[in-house]
Amino acid sequence: MPTNGSSHRSKPGHATAPACTMVIFGARGDLTKRLLFPSLYNLVEMSLLDEDFKVEGIDIAESDDAAWRKGLGDTIDSFADDPDAEFHPDHIDSDAWDWLMSRATYQRGDVTDAKTFDALAERLKDRSAIFYLAVSSRFFWPIIERLGAAGLLEEPDGAFRRLVIEKPFGHDLASARELNTKILSVAQEAQVFRIDHFMGKEPVQSILAMRFANRLFEPIWRSEHIERVEITAAETIGIESRGHFYEATGALRDMVPNHLFQLLCMAAMDPPSSLDPDAVRSEKTRLLSAVAPLGKDDVVFGQYEAGTVDGKAVPGYRDEADVAADSRTETYVAARLMINNWRWAGTPFLLRTGKRLAARRTEIVVHLRPAPFALFPNTPQRTDSASRIIFSIDPKHGIEIAFDVKQPGPDVTLAPAATWFSFDKGFDRSPTVGYEALLYDCMLGDATLFQRADTIEAAWRIVDPVLNHAQDAVPAFYEAGGDGPDDWTWTPLKSVAPSDEPS
Ligand code: BG6
Repeated sequence: MPTNGSSHRSKPGHATAPACTMVIFGARGDLTKRLLFPSLYNLVEMSLLDEDFKVEGIDIAESDDAAWRKGLGDTIDSFADDPDAEFHPDHIDSDAWDWLMSRATYQRGDVTDAKTFDALAERLKDRSAIFYLAVSSRFFWPIIERLGAAGLLEEPDGAFRRLVIEKPFGHDLASARELNTKILSVAQEAQVFRIDHFMGKEPVQSILAMRFANRLFEPIWRSEHIERVEITAAETIGIESRGHFYEATGALRDMVPNHLFQLLCMAAMDPPSSLDPDAVRSEKTRLLSAVAPLGKDDVVFGQYEAGTVDGKAVPGYRDEADVAADSRTETYVAARLMINNWRWAGTPFLLRTGKRLAARRTEIVVHLRPAPFALFPNTPQRTDSASRIIFSIDPKHGIEIAFDVKQPGPDVTLAPAATWFSFDKGFDRSPTVGYEALLYDCMLGDATLFQRADTIEAAWRIVDPVLNHAQDAVPAFYEAGGDGPDDWTWTPLKSVAPSDEPS
């Protein structure tokens, strides 16, 4: 049985994942049909699932195998038909899909009823199992507690039992600690896979490779050479139909201690001594532990008003369904972080995320300091250096390096230039959903990409002092379709050159 202490990431080749049953709580939810099943389908296409793989969906609604499979099939077919879908395969291979469907069964079950779990134990017997909690966070502990009580978290001889927990993991430091303590009273840390889907994105995983497999970057990766780092997750979508969830959550809790801090870790952590999951995760925790907790002057909260996004008029946040007419919930947050260690003292890390902004753009922009001596007299003295390294995560997947060159001509004048690497053009890749590696790793018992209890708590510690400030302060209102509140100097969201990929 693979253990949690070894990483397949350091070994070449792909092994078929060990046989197991993936039990999905929340089988009829969006996550299951839009992300989990398309990812399982891709794993089938890559021949990474065992012949004896099974997937069982549990949900409260009356349904049966045939109806559940049909709903899953309709969703994946709709992706193949929609060129704008985030996962857009040319076609769905019917052999692969049938293979998966022949292993997919549905059980009606109430997760607050112990009988659901006793029946599950009967069906699983001694099989290895992954319990995937694709449910609202209020059901996390009720499900885990009952899994524990039914003996389902005890690992039978030669088999594993693992938990996959979606976000939000707690709503502040105290609740995250409490949830960790409760979970660890019924399961071992090695059985717990706290998921952050940003870690499933290839360009995010590649940041460590770029930083630590090359000599080019690491010597300058410190405050002496790096003036500031901007981390952006800008979205054009609004809150969609999630008014209830969003009112209680807001942009800070929804995106910062999880997704943006994972990007921060990838950009700023020290090199681990190996790819062992705990070596990697210890470095992330060490980095987050060095970040000074945020004060109210380090954050800006915003909320979108009506405006135009991609040429379409959209309502303001307060006019969305299930949102209070005087809501102060932030749909935008910017935070200025300082990392108190030898490498980063003096380099601010500016993080921003928001809904209904000018462009969808998830990226890390590393701004280098200007050259120490201005050698080129015919060029206006720059206040900002042209030298930047940009990790583009969404919607483009690539890396850009921007710098100054000499503009061709008889005099010496500098001009900005850039070079761009695209993962999509550089590699022949089939479209993926972003959960494939996460599911596969969980089956192999490799927790490298998942959050450990201490990493989650280190993240909440940073934002905890300002969590309630979001509700106390009136947010800065911004027009939908713009760059957000006029707070600090940022790379414009719609900048074209040189950040646009050459055709
Ligand atoms: C989710 C948030 O975790 O991440 C959403 O709850 C957000 O509000 C989403 O839209 C962003 O993820 P991605 O992969 O689309 O950038």
